[in-house]
Amino acid sequence: MQDNNPIPPAPPAPELFTWEFATDPYPAYAWLREHAPVHRTRLPSGVEAWLVTRYGDARQALADQRLSKNPAHHDEPAHAKGKTGIPGERKAELMTHLLNIDPPDHTRLRRLVSKAFTPRTVAQFAPRVQELTDRLIDAFEAEGSADLIHEFAFPLPIYAICDLLGVPREDQDDFRDWAGMMIRHGGGPRGGVARSVKKMRNYLAELIHKKRENPGDDLISRLIEASDHGEHLTENEAAAMAFILLFAGFETTVNLIGNGMYALLRNPGQRERLQESLAAGETGLLETGVEELLRYDGPVEMATWRFATQPLTLGGQDIAAGDPVLVVLAAADRDPARFSGPDTLDLGRKDNQHLGYGHGIHYCLGAPLARLEGQTALATLLRRLPDLRLAVEPDDLRWRGGLIMRGLRTLPVEFTAS
Ligand code: HEM
Repeated sequence: MQDNNPIPPAPPAPELFTWEFATDPYPAYAWLREHAPVHRTRLPSGVEAWLVTRYGDARQALADQRLSKNPAHHDEPAHAKGKTGIPGERKAELMTHLLNIDPPDHTRLRRLVSKAFTPRTVAQFAPRVQELTDRLIDAFEAEGSADLIHEFAFPLPIYAICDLLGVPREDQDDFRDWAGMMIRHGGGPRGGVARSVKKMRNYLAELIHKKRENPGDDLISRLIEASDHGEHLTENEAAAMAFILLFAGFETTVNLIGNGMYALLRNPGQRERLQESLAAGETGLLETGVEELLRYDGPVEMATWRFATQPLTLGGQDIAAGDPVLVVLAAADRDPARFSGPDTLDLGRKDNQHLGYGHGIHYCLGAPLARLEGQTALATLLRRLPDLRLAVEPDDLRWRGGLIMRGLRTLPVEFTAS
């Protein structure tokens, strides 16, 4: 008998971690949310991990204390130890930082750094971020073209964080080079990265030593001074803290500016709306707009590693003790069960509790700084280069294809030179 209404077979499971996936992971995430919301997969490094893609499950997992940040809870076969690319496994001193530890150590360190790195510290920094932004645009404005990643998005956060930490200006280009090595080769050849990390560690240790003798008006000096119930950061903890601020605040912000500007260039109606609102002297749409860009195509594709400390059930799926769990923020933030029209960019979106900065005790410590840099960078680009446009076809752009971060390798643009 002929069946006139056959049930269409479910589309096959998408291949993850391919070149197509790096370019546009969203169709694969839609499939996972629908058919396998808590999904065990083999990562390119060979590690098996659970991917969590629905908003509700993701939010729950981020706040679940049974999921530890300490890589020691990973039950990886002994022969593979240290080879999986899971940060912190190599136990370098710089790795005992906020994103690799649990309470009570996390609570103590986070309280101490929060005292030194307040929203007020960041607000006072606004004129400097504007000055840096303008200086970078000054350097390419007369050319009529630029690569917005290398000439703009990349240097801005590194100089900003160096300034905040108290790294003298004359040393900041060294930091730029070390950070460049880490971003270019993250997940790639280890030698250069290891050397850069070592140089950065030695430099920070020396700087902390100098600031202890001679404190200044900077974050490292405040980190050294910060005390809580008589407790201070040790020099090692201060160095690890400075390192995580650099590390967590650098590539993320590069990608906020890069992915954000790219999304605006691909959505001319939204970009015009923002330009008009900025020209009218309003800031409301800029503020909601940067949050929407974080939701729509945020810099952190997956939250950093978590490991089950005991058996647990998530989204109906049993997870064994020792299993790694990756919460896919990019998938959760496109969940139609939470956001209306999730694949549409709407800079004025109201109900927008996205997970781009995480959730729970590890919620991004640098969110006020990221917002300041993102808003300043995008508003200044649109104001000073009003006819900014892509200089290549979107298909010719390449994405980095790492696990945790999502960002463009280059963003070539053109504009009327002035
Ligand atoms: C944590 C996103 C910029 C410092 C996080 C987490 C996310 C995130 C998702 C949580 C990770 C997890 O739970 O696994 C972002 C985004 C940024 C940004 C999207 C830019 C747009 C910054 C900046 C800084 C910073 C500029 C500092 C200078 C940190 C720190 C943590 C963190 C220290 C760890 C907090 C903890 O474990 O208690 N960030 N971040 N981030 N971020 Fe950011």
